[in-house]
Amino acid sequence: MAENIFGGFKEYSVAEFFKKNRQMLGFSGKIRSLTTIVHEYMTNSLDACGEAGIHPEIEVWVEELEKNDRYKVKVRDNGPGIPEKILGKALGMMLAGTKFHRYVQQRGQQGIGAAGCTMYSLITTGQPVSVVSKHQGKKISCKLGIDFKGNKPVLTEVVREECPLEEHGLEVEGVFADTKYEKSAYGVGEYLKRTAIVNPHARIVFNSPEGDKFVYPKSIEDLPEKAEEVKPHPLGIGANDLLDIAKASKEYTKLSAMLQNEFTRISLNKVKELRELVPEVNLDMKPSKLSWDDAEKLVVGFKKIKWIAPATDSVIPIGKEQIEKSLRNILNPEVIYVTNRPPKIYRGGIPFVVEVGIAYGGDINKEGKGGVVMRFANRAPLLFDAGGCAITQTVKNVEWKRYEIRKFDEDPIAILVNLASVHVPYTSAGKQSISGEDDVEEEIRNALMEAGRHVQKHLSGRRREKEKSTKKKAIMRYVGQISGDMAELAGNKAEKEEIKVGLQKMIEERFE
Ligand SMILES: Nc1ncnc2c1ncn2[C@@H]1O[C@H](COP(=O)(O)OP(=O)(O)OP(=O)(O)O)[C@@H](O)[C@H]1O
Ligand SMILES: [Mg+2]
Repeated sequence: MAENIFGGFKEYSVAEFFKKNRQMLGFSGKIRSLTTIVHEYMTNSLDACGEAGIHPEIEVWVEELEKNDRYKVKVRDNGPGIPEKILGKALGMMLAGTKFHRYVQQRGQQGIGAAGCTMYSLITTGQPVSVVSKHQGKKISCKLGIDFKGNKPVLTEVVREECPLEEHGLEVEGVFADTKYEKSAYGVGEYLKRTAIVNPHARIVFNSPEGDKFVYPKSIEDLPEKAEEVKPHPLGIGANDLLDIAKASKEYTKLSAMLQNEFTRISLNKVKELRELVPEVNLDMKPSKLSWDDAEKLVVGFKKIKWIAPATDSVIPIGKEQIEKSLRNILNPEVIYVTNRPPKIYRGGIPFVVEVGIAYGGDINKEGKGGVVMRFANRAPLLFDAGGCAITQTVKNVEWKRYEIRKFDEDPIAILVNLASVHVPYTSAGKQSISGEDDVEEEIRNALMEAGRHVQKHLSGRRREKEKSTKKKAIMRYVGQISGDMAELAGNKAEKEEIKVGLQKMIEERFE
């Protein structure tokens, strides 16, 4: 009997897992799948340009091969390209990349995005993707697929050439089925427009399936400040993370040295404190010997120590001026307010900053739809999974009536929220919504309320003005009659004009 039950026991790779669970990577629904592909390539291009200090110039082509099903997508950037040595793994291996083990504010963080797209091309059309990379004078062109069983890249038709040093960048092209192009709030067009809104330092061009060319030119000269890599703070990690770091740190002979070097804020004194708090864990052991139990005990110990908060200069907001400029450009509103709040910390050790921009009036509900919420994480738009996102939830829970917004969904109001962090707490690998971390939600709420108060000030001022002018008009209407009556009462009709002018002056002064 037992033989039968366990006869089918098998191992499988992470690539096989995601092949079966493609929805976890954002490949669910035709429209979303197409937007996901563009999202993964765009975020990679912007990250790569950011790291290399290059003004991004990114062009996207979406070509229809079969209506509402099969599209060719091409994305070309002027980033640093990828060296041949890692090209295959970068785009053809799940959980491989340059970002996962680092605490640095970037759009990508998992090492699945690009390989996920290669996977989608393979499982929907059987075709590998075409790649051209130009990196430091070397050009390599190839077709790239995945060996799912081994989670390994498969490179074919490899051509190597020399190229001028000043030519650099990556171009990826693939044919994807089970996709659909649509001009909607969830489509590629909207995604790229929103990307342009929060990345004014980039030039983005979109060639749509209808043959239209949308050009979002670079609207500011300065590149965003470069995000610095930081070391994790002891309060921001769990036992699992600690074990990972210990396994990866071969250069230390003692756990205590690893803790001091691989984390921020762990000093010799803190190590001493830890020894007293958790005497059962030997801090002189080799990091590779660390067990799950010991890691758990250390994490409990970390929580008992009074730490200096992590440095927050690793989080880089978009900036008040840029957000204002972008909102003004696209919405032409009557009033704008953008917060400029200091960074905060969640899970005790991960710094983040929330930026909220509110725009009211102008072109906002031209099409009759108010209450627009634009969500971003590290300057990448989040278009899907709004229902489960901490940003949407928090916006919903604000009592907008208090801020003179009577019907949030109908009033001409648009809200932009950007969460910047070295580690964005996404709810899933599809990276479209933010999980409800208490500290994050609270900061979003506070930022929304700050922005709300400014809109309220403007709106209540406007309302008072309106009330005043209505009242004034109403009173003015009686001036003619009253001055006539008063002149008659006084028995001198000639004074009517004088009384009228006098009364008008009084009213004008009263309602100034
Ligand atoms: N356009 C590009 N230019 C240069 N390097 C790139 C580019 N696209 C991808 N890479 C490299 O390939 C790696 C893998 O990309 P991938 O999108 O799979 O993962 P990621 O961006 O690290 O994380 P995420 O899964 O969250 O997107 C990146 O970490 C980066 O090193
Ligand atoms: Mg990526």
